[in-house]
Amino acid sequence: MNKLILVTGGTGYIGSHTTVELMNEGFDVVIIDNLSNSEKSVLDGIVEITGRRPYFEEFDICDKEKLDNFFKIYKKIDAVIHFAAYKAVGESIEKPLKYYQNNLITLMNLLNGIKEHKVSNFVFSSSATVYGQPDKLPVTESAPFKTADSPYGNTKQIAEEIIRDTINANRDFRAISLRYFNPIGAHSSALIGELPRGVPNNLVPFITQTAAGIRDELKVFGDDYNTPDGSAVRDYINVVDLAKAHVVSIKRMIDNKSKSNLEVFNVGTGKGSSVLEIVNAFEKATGEKLNYKMSERRVGDIESVYAETRYANEELGWKAEIGLDETLLSAWNWEKNIRNIK
Ligand code: UD1
Repeated sequence: MNKLILVTGGTGYIGSHTTVELMNEGFDVVIIDNLSNSEKSVLDGIVEITGRRPYFEEFDICDKEKLDNFFKIYKKIDAVIHFAAYKAVGESIEKPLKYYQNNLITLMNLLNGIKEHKVSNFVFSSSATVYGQPDKLPVTESAPFKTADSPYGNTKQIAEEIIRDTINANRDFRAISLRYFNPIGAHSSALIGELPRGVPNNLVPFITQTAAGIRDELKVFGDDYNTPDGSAVRDYINVVDLAKAHVVSIKRMIDNKSKSNLEVFNVGTGKGSSVLEIVNAFEKATGEKLNYKMSERRVGDIESVYAETRYANEELGWKAEIGLDETLLSAWNWEKNIRNIK
């Protein structure tokens, strides 16, 4: 019998790509999503790619009773991957309680449910945001948390602490926190991808929407950072590579390969790219000309961050494989597909 994985937020951007990779590896998947930031039609894309439909339950994990009923119906869950959370940094500064309420209550409800129903493997969707601007680059997993720049970032730090304390009190329970750098791109089929609502906050969706003519121009936030070309540097990781890190993490726990009950891995490429390098790579990979101009720094942005990936490469046995050009082309193919651009 196939192992059954619960994926919360499974119709979202990273959740949908992870569901595909899990199903490709022979896992069964049940998704819980309240569709607050995704569409049910994403399931059709998953079916088209994998030939199978994941189980789907539409509700909010903040509702403890519904979650309890869920665990009574799906009795044999082998592992949980928890993506369901709000993620817009700017909005979290305006509406902090919305973020603390949703991101922390969902986590605690889920951990309680897992404990009561004796599911012992848990993967948490964390973020490089926990490092703030690190003192040393590339940043390793042992770098200290810096004061969070936003309530969103703070929810990721607090969530990691909640998981740590829960594990210390329940030794039969295991977790892996994956700290994502900047996930970009889409599935090579262009059948699933990122679906930002309204004006995108993140760089690559803004680039593809500008190339598609939906936005007039891209503003490059900051030209005076202490970086080779003055624009800020990030570690852009292909979303399918990122999805595969989850599959490897699930197998590691199911096969009892974890070195400790709580493990933390950076999920990045190890290579920093500046905003201008991304713009140039996009133009080169797609042949599209991008209308952009240099602009003020964005409040709360850090200068430079990229991952030390040795621990993930050697211990987890996972490595990013897809190059930047291919990744940016996949983001463009996805944008063209949803906008019907030939
Ligand atoms: C942001 C969040 C981070 C979160 C991640 C999720 C902030 C400060 N950080 O990361 O906590 O985990 O999203 O995806 O928001 N840029 C432009 N023009 C644009 C948009 C972005 O120049 O129109 C620049 C930014 O200034 C930054 C880089 O592109 O230097 C990447 O930005 P973005 O995609 O928003 O990611 P982060 O800010 O790194």
